[in-house]
Amino acid sequence: MTVRTILGLESSCDDTAAAIVHIDETGNATVLSSVVMGQNDLHAAFGGVVPEIAARAHAEKLDLCVEQALIEAELTLRDVDAVAVTAGPGLIGGVVSGVMCAKGLSAALGIPLYGVNHLAGHALTPRLTDGAAYPYLMLLVSGGHCQFLIVHSAQSFQRLGGTIDDAPGEAFDKVARLIGLSQPGGPAIEAAALQGDPARFSFPRPLLNRDSCDMSFSGLKTAVLRQRDTLLDDDGALTQRDQADLAAGFQAAVVDVLAAKTRRALCEYLALSPDEPSLCVAGGVAANMAIRTALESVSNHNRTRFLPPPLSLCTDNAAMIAYAAAEQMMIRGPDDMALSARPRWPLDQSQPAMLGSGKKGAKA
Ligand code: KG4
Ligand code: ZN
Repeated sequence: MTVRTILGLESSCDDTAAAIVHIDETGNATVLSSVVMGQNDLHAAFGGVVPEIAARAHAEKLDLCVEQALIEAELTLRDVDAVAVTAGPGLIGGVVSGVMCAKGLSAALGIPLYGVNHLAGHALTPRLTDGAAYPYLMLLVSGGHCQFLIVHSAQSFQRLGGTIDDAPGEAFDKVARLIGLSQPGGPAIEAAALQGDPARFSFPRPLLNRDSCDMSFSGLKTAVLRQRDTLLDDDGALTQRDQADLAAGFQAAVVDVLAAKTRRALCEYLALSPDEPSLCVAGGVAANMAIRTALESVSNHNRTRFLPPPLSLCTDNAAMIAYAAAEQMMIRGPDDMALSARPRWPLDQSQPAMLGSGKKGAKA
């Protein structure tokens, strides 16, 4: 049977998502629907994602997401040819909810089941949005992940380096909390930084001089904490100007680190002489305009196409999972009912990430 219509499910962190992707006779993919139900309100009081609350919410919302994705695509379950689900890495309770739901649909409808690596979903998004040619360079930057990958095929990923501690999104969230801004921290810091002076405080650019693509963001966060405490000791409270300047200084440091390490990763990638060199980004932090602008300029300097996805496909979604399955089913068979949820699942088995202490689990 030719698989044309794929239902994707995603539940690895704090977004429950379902999507329908259609593949036409020529292999072109179209996203017919992509539904994302967030959980920010459920976790807000705790200052971070609570795994048990997330898992329960996924179990409650997955059916609703699937229903809504079918309505928006104007299809019924009978029209679905295959089901794809994030099988890791991520918060185990959420991943289990998705895998159980997908197994149920696969068994009830008699359709193939594909377990997809969440990071492969992000990494293959530029193929869905721009038809990026292999091999391309991908910078994956989110609340739980930060790594450079050369994407050689839908199943072959070469990790050049990544964070050795916090992911950048995690640092944005923690710094926002430290300086009294709202969650999620990324958008709050970006907005505050627009009003701030990035030069008032001088924050470190960790590992900048080390000859590798590895990065570190935890010391930067501590430097912001120290500066905040100095301001509190001197003045008793942070003014709006202090908040804006701290946000701008922090963001400028993240931008510098990401830009410098991207330059280095591009050198390694361009040494492969790709036919159509492309730098792609994915993950929630790639929504940041200051980061996008800096990466675009690095690309232009290196005669490389810059391919940032639309915001809706930058952050967690299920269209990327359905699409990744569509590519992978050309080179491998489906999974069976033994498919298990994997909290850690490095894309490049030869270069597993160092394990950090992040709140969102795997730094794969
Ligand atoms: O990819 P994502 O939606 O979820 C995972 O972490 O998997 O990324 C969420 C992260 C959060 O830490 C959030 O603060 C960050 O992305 N983020 C941003 C921006 N928008 C979201 N960070 C910096 N600037 C932004 N505009
Ligand atoms: Zn993600």
